[in-house]
Amino acid sequence: MQVSKEHLYVLGNWKMAQGFASGREFFEAWASPADEKVYAAIYASFPHLLTAQDLCKKNGLFIGAQDCSDQEGGAYTGEVSCQQLSEIGVESVLIAHSERRQRFSEDNELIRRKIERALHAGLTPVFCLGEDLQQRESGRVEGVLQEQLKAIEGLKGDLIIAYEPVWAIGTGKVATTKEIEEAHSFIAAQQPKFPIVYGGSVKPETAAEIMALRSVNGVLVGGASLKVESFEQIFQSALSL
Ligand code: PGA
Repeated sequence: MQVSKEHLYVLGNWKMAQGFASGREFFEAWASPADEKVYAAIYASFPHLLTAQDLCKKNGLFIGAQDCSDQEGGAYTGEVSCQQLSEIGVESVLIAHSERRQRFSEDNELIRRKIERALHAGLTPVFCLGEDLQQRESGRVEGVLQEQLKAIEGLKGDLIIAYEPVWAIGTGKVATTKEIEEAHSFIAAQQPKFPIVYGGSVKPETAAEIMALRSVNGVLVGGASLKVESFEQIFQSALSL
């Protein structure tokens, strides 16, 4: 997966919500041919990855993991290394999703180590960041983003940034285009090189308007990526931009 601001990225995050059989059906049903400018990728749970990458190669989808270890290998029970992911053909990995930041206390140091491991193994990291509701309501959006962006300061290598306001994730509450533009412009001012996608309750009905924004290079989609129809609809709207 090439990383540049010339591309649009339509990324689906299945979280722990897709069964193995339904995941397979999704990959088999995906009918859109690959495009040079618009990339579609699914970030699936580990058990999906081995068979998914085979199916995906045929139908032009990229396949990614939802997390990776910050360690190279060895005695880390339950962990999966970037090298292992890369060996089975996985191309990309989500890092620092807000669910991991909140529930697994991921901090900047750990996040940085994961990103460096991913880059070293040839995976494209998708680095997630975003403020929660309390932080937004107390006027601290930029301060929070600034702090989270420290994890990638001076980084060598390419990644995709995913701006996902926590209050918009899984809530049906999409950020306004103004809120998205403001946050993306702030992030781009610090990190001008990297494409920035928006995530948080993106649906087929709202995706086109969001992706048409100048500062937006695509979307990270949770709920609406579980069904092939809705995810393909979002991919089609990206193609028509
Ligand atoms: P959502 O999830 O689209 O269901 O809000 C987005 C995400 O968590 O990446």
